Amino acid sequence: MEEVIVSAPGKVILAGEHAVVYGEPALVATVGLRCRVKTRWIEKKQILIKDEYEDVSLARLAIEASLKKRNQLSEGVKVEISSELPIGGGLGSSAAMGTAIVWSLLKGYPEVLKDRVVKLVEDKQHKNSSGLDQAIVKEGGVMRYQRGTGFKKLKKKNWPEFLLIDSGKPVEGTGEMVAMVREKKRKYGEVFKRIGEISEQWQEKKIKENQRLLEEIGVVGGEAKKMIREIERIGGMAKISGAGGVKEGSGILLGFHEEIERLKRLVERKKWKYYQVKLGVEGVRYEKN
Ligand code: PMV
Repeated sequence: MEEVIVSAPGKVILAGEHAVVYGEPALVATVGLRCRVKTRWIEKKQILIKDEYEDVSLARLAIEASLKKRNQLSEGVKVEISSELPIGGGLGSSAAMGTAIVWSLLKGYPEVLKDRVVKLVEDKQHKNSSGLDQAIVKEGGVMRYQRGTGFKKLKKKNWPEFLLIDSGKPVEGTGEMVAMVREKKRKYGEVFKRIGEISEQWQEKKIKENQRLLEEIGVVGGEAKKMIREIERIGGMAKISGAGGVKEGSGILLGFHEEIERLKRLVERKKWKYYQVKLGVEGVRYEKN
């Protein structure tokens, strides 16, 4: 029986998280870490998930939504998932996995239909998402994304090198963080607007201001703040990327330094977990068997 292999990348938000929910633009790029999904139709009516990845409930949701679209709820399928992406850190691991599963099970179906199913899965996963993760994981590259107007791919320029530094996994989900900000959204109107301006005229040196604004809306935890202050002390800068978190970790930090080796030395000395990745890689794709 035919085996289908699909891979989809993760993403990092250069600027605009949270503000994007309220209509401001965000700047987002894929990262060179991928989720790979291998699916095979099997005789018996059952869904077998072999997962090196913990999120079996999300996998099941994506599988069931795809089978429903095929009108083949009686089909059996074996799905093997392996991912290089840390889960729940803001690198779009769930969008990458959902997209890869839907694309593998709906191979040959029109793209608009695949989009609809991925959206359904994403909406169930995080209520009220802006749609940003889904767009970048599919399209790849670097894009400006705005709710309502959609995305515009940006021409490749030489993006600087970043380190993605792990500040610890947030215990709050994206939906919870978005809801927390929503409660005080009136108070943050000006902050959202300024974040939107940063996305629009992005330069690496604006990372520091963007981070301060994210701290102002209360989505950054103590540990992440401490790490970021240490990075600033050696002349670098960093911001959270994604929904953040306050009770424990705040997810992945986007770290920058004019002399990246200096940041690397600090991160290694502190024994912080990090990834050095390429930005703007290709979006979801069918892999050769
Ligand atoms: O799922 P995360 O952690 O990458 O966060 C998504 C970014 C938010 O702006 C916080 C939410 C959204 O849907 O855009």
